[in-house]
Amino acid sequence: MKSPLPVPAISSRKLKTYLSRFSHTKILVLGDLILDQYIWGTVNRVSPEAPVPVVHVNSESYRMGGAANVYQNIATLGGQVELCGVIGDDLYGKQILNEVRNLSKPRSGIFVDKSRPTIKKTRVIAHNQQIVRYDVEQRDQVSTSIERKIIRHIGSRLPDLSCIVISDYAKGLISEEMMYHIQKQATIYGVLIIVDPKVEHMHYYAGVTAITPNYLEAKQGAGFLSTQNIPIQQIGSVLQEDLQCQAVIVTRGEEGMSIFEQNGCSWAIPAVARQVYDVTGAGDTVVSTLALALSAKASITDAAVLANQAAGIVVGMVGTATVTRPQLQQVFTHDIS
Ligand SMILES: Nc1ncnc2c1ncn2[C@@H]1O[C@H](COP(=O)(O)OP(=O)(O)OP(=O)(O)O)[C@@H](O)[C@H]1O
Ligand SMILES: [Mg+2]
Repeated sequence: MKSPLPVPAISSRKLKTYLSRFSHTKILVLGDLILDQYIWGTVNRVSPEAPVPVVHVNSESYRMGGAANVYQNIATLGGQVELCGVIGDDLYGKQILNEVRNLSKPRSGIFVDKSRPTIKKTRVIAHNQQIVRYDVEQRDQVSTSIERKIIRHIGSRLPDLSCIVISDYAKGLISEEMMYHIQKQATIYGVLIIVDPKVEHMHYYAGVTAITPNYLEAKQGAGFLSTQNIPIQQIGSVLQEDLQCQAVIVTRGEEGMSIFEQNGCSWAIPAVARQVYDVTGAGDTVVSTLALALSAKASITDAAVLANQAAGIVVGMVGTATVTRPQLQQVFTHDIS
């Protein structure tokens, strides 16, 4: 069914201006840091020990995941970005630190918690097929002492920032207390807060600048059951009413996104992908581009149009990929508006 919401008008010239400002933005990404590990191999036999395949490992690769992937997306799009979160005192934590150092100046926003492992998701893949995924994580809330260090760190960085992105996977970092302090301080400095939310924490985010749930998260966050078929307008109105954010931006996969502004305006932006190869990580691209565009003084609808374009590019790339600013710029190069 076609969405009856209006599509916002855009000016390519304005969008290009925002893109040119991306390099001046200063964004802090706070959230659960994850390392994605991929083990590539081949299978020639079944194990004599149990009815499972034996994987002969050929290679291994790593990618930053969770909040660390949002960080990488913003860096690739040309923003000035720093990362804040927790790692364990282990090899995989060091791997995340190394990746961060390769992308930007080292900052002291990544704290080591000796009592927990670095979150790692391992996928074993043979002949282009995932055989198993295993996760190492400890989801208990981080200690009060680490929570305080993070709140203090963000407080010290705020005067320098245009935006904070909260990438919440509910793996022990983001708490109601932390959100309260961050919002209170961010308001003083006029720093934007954009949240990629987790349903069970939805009420933490009341009053932030924007949240970007996908359809299912929005539906459950608004109090409906995942099995209920609820019109997007109803979901958006309930969430907006509950949270009073400048914008609730619901990403809807191949249907693009719907926007519900605090001022009562609602919009629909159709998806733009020409070919779709891999939709993983598209949500991270959306929140990253929104943070950059809003920091560059774009309106909510202009920022969402850019984010939708960036997501359209990323789903056309193989593997959890990141979009570059020239790639995004290219989209508007041939337009004459
Ligand atoms: N199949 C698709 N065709 C076109 N565009 C898509 C498709 N899937 C995703 N997108 C684009 O990516 C955006 C975000 O996708 P989606 O709603 O799936 O987010 P998500 O569920 O949060 O993703 P993630 O798995 O990264 O968390 C959409 O709003 C749309 O612009
Ligand atoms: Mg998502």
